[in-house]
Amino acid sequence: MPTQPTPADKFSFGLWTIGYNGADPFGGPTRAPLDVVHGVEKLAELGAYGLTFHDDDLFAFGSTDAERQKQIDRLKQVLSDTGLIVPMVTTNLFSAPVFKDGGFTSNDRGVRRFAMRKAMRQLELGVELGAKTFVMWGGREGAEYDSAKDVRSALERYREALNLFGDYVTEKDYDIRFAIEPKPNEPRGDILLPTVGHAIAFIETLERPELFGVNPEVGHEQMAGLNFTSGIAQALYQDKLFHIDLNGQRGIKYDQDLVFGHGDLHNAFSLVDLLENGGPNGGQSYTGPRHFDYKPSRTEDETGVWDSAAANMRTYLLLKERAAAFRADPDVQEALQAARVFELAENTLGENESYDDLLADRASYEDFDHGAYFNGKGFGFVRLQQLATEHLMGAR
Ligand code: GCO
Ligand code: MN
Ligand code: MN
Repeated sequence: MPTQPTPADKFSFGLWTIGYNGADPFGGPTRAPLDVVHGVEKLAELGAYGLTFHDDDLFAFGSTDAERQKQIDRLKQVLSDTGLIVPMVTTNLFSAPVFKDGGFTSNDRGVRRFAMRKAMRQLELGVELGAKTFVMWGGREGAEYDSAKDVRSALERYREALNLFGDYVTEKDYDIRFAIEPKPNEPRGDILLPTVGHAIAFIETLERPELFGVNPEVGHEQMAGLNFTSGIAQALYQDKLFHIDLNGQRGIKYDQDLVFGHGDLHNAFSLVDLLENGGPNGGQSYTGPRHFDYKPSRTEDETGVWDSAAANMRTYLLLKERAAAFRADPDVQEALQAARVFELAENTLGENESYDDLLADRASYEDFDHGAYFNGKGFGFVRLQQLATEHLMGAR
């Protein structure tokens, strides 16, 4: 299997990822600004298929209409020159001072109305460029102090904004859906809709829930100590995986945005296996963009930026290759069988079996030998995980 990416792999990158200049709370930039035209040309050369961006990545906050249009025209030109597409756009509602207490959920009503307008303007641009997904990461939608934020009202205001956007795209007949990106904290002390589970539950309260899904990011779930692959499996189960942000994170700490696989490699392996092979019973489960939301470390110069962009894609393709080998290995199939992984797909009740039938079934309770599970009937999950590890290491 080739590890040279092609557009068919659907790899996309945020303009803010390759354009990250290295600034952090402790030091300024270590790299010069990246021009969008150069960025798109390099991504095309490396084999990516898509570029995503926040409004403010392409034209600075506060740009005049003419400055904004000039950048849009330059982007359109390089897209047509290279064949790259824009599968997703998003709005920056977190950098400018006006958003210090959030956008859609700021305590300040004027800021909330400004945020709605800014998002709708970017939504229009996204539709014009053919984007199919509009990501909403509410980095500043939150608080540091419990006394400062009425969380129930904030959720109500979030709903108000999302319902408005749902009406807008429906009435305009736009072919675009929304993906909420959860994150537990940073930059706020606590962010609203902190995990995939919170976001999915919230979506069900919206007026047009079918238009809303999630854009989970590897590191964000892992910052909360959660299993990313497991969260993705639930998002798929509930038909809510509209988009995905791939990167790396090493445990519960600040958001590292490392290269995909440069954090929990086992979890990256199971994730790619899930996306590409659908888990134990086969079939690709996600066909959307494989979007990288990482930050080239501030230790790197421009060579390091492109090396790290390429590394994301190469790691994904290597994991895809390893996952295929894992599934094809007869020892693995036998271990999956022995671990009864396939048995979980069987209904617990028999066909048409009622609770009366279950209650009358002595084999299920009175005669069931639960004692046999002490000192026996091990599942063999460790052996299975070792096989996965050996495939991951290229040792089999
Ligand atoms: C983060 C986030 C952001 C969002 C992006 C989309 O690392 O905290 O990933 O980068 O994904 O801003 O709106
Ligand atoms: Mn992140
Ligand atoms: Mn992200």
